[in-house]
Amino acid sequence: MDLNNKIEKIGIVFAMKGEALATIHHFNLERINGNYPVELYGNAENKIVVSLNGTCSFTGVDNVGTQAATLNTYVLINEVNPDIVINAGTAGGFAHSGAKIGDVYIGTNRVVYHDRRIPLPKFDEYGIGNYGLINTDYLAKQIGIKQGIISTGNSLDYVDRDLQLMKMSNASLKDMEAASVAWVCQLLNKTFIPIKSVTDMVDGGIPTEVEFKANFNLATKNLNLKLIQLIDFIYQKTMEEIVSPEK
Ligand code: ADE
Repeated sequence: MDLNNKIEKIGIVFAMKGEALATIHHFNLERINGNYPVELYGNAENKIVVSLNGTCSFTGVDNVGTQAATLNTYVLINEVNPDIVINAGTAGGFAHSGAKIGDVYIGTNRVVYHDRRIPLPKFDEYGIGNYGLINTDYLAKQIGIKQGIISTGNSLDYVDRDLQLMKMSNASLKDMEAASVAWVCQLLNKTFIPIKSVTDMVDGGIPTEVEFKANFNLATKNLNLKLIQLIDFIYQKTMEEIVSPEK
């Protein structure tokens, strides 16, 4: 990452259309070409581009999870070449780490996986992923949001071993995309920032799907407010101006 690079093009990866609509409307984005199933929405000169995973042609639901997010991120970078990639979406939060329904978090430190269990030398480490992030302390303060480690898997629920791995990673949030977006950004040398809002408590005892549906609108509203603030804040700044100096 060149610290003097100005952020003039921002790409935002979303899984679900419902999560992205307020941002698409706010910036007056219109559908631009995107390889099926990925849907790209851009403004003049594509300074801000929202990229959706698109819908499943068999079931009609939004494509979610790491497979679709990997393709989405690749198509976005290949077609638009943004200076920075943001992954925005909803997540489960851990009450024991202080998360509450509707809270918005920016990722800190690293992004990991909790469902790639490969108990073989080196493959175990590969499975966890451990994709490093820029220091987001300054951004979190400026935008007024919490920071946390995000752990990614391909299920809305979890099995006991997932939970153990999330605890070992000190995760505050559980999502279904961030680590896969981080991987593509690492491969293609793009700065990556995840921002997530909490729909459900992973350790709260209520079935995830019940809480997810009940809180989706609130979490999405909060997510879009903070995402727009984040975009406005980083646009036209250099990397140096948004990254906290290392202590
Ligand atoms: N998105 C919203 N809630 C989630 C959860 N509990 N796990 C994974 N992704 C989520």
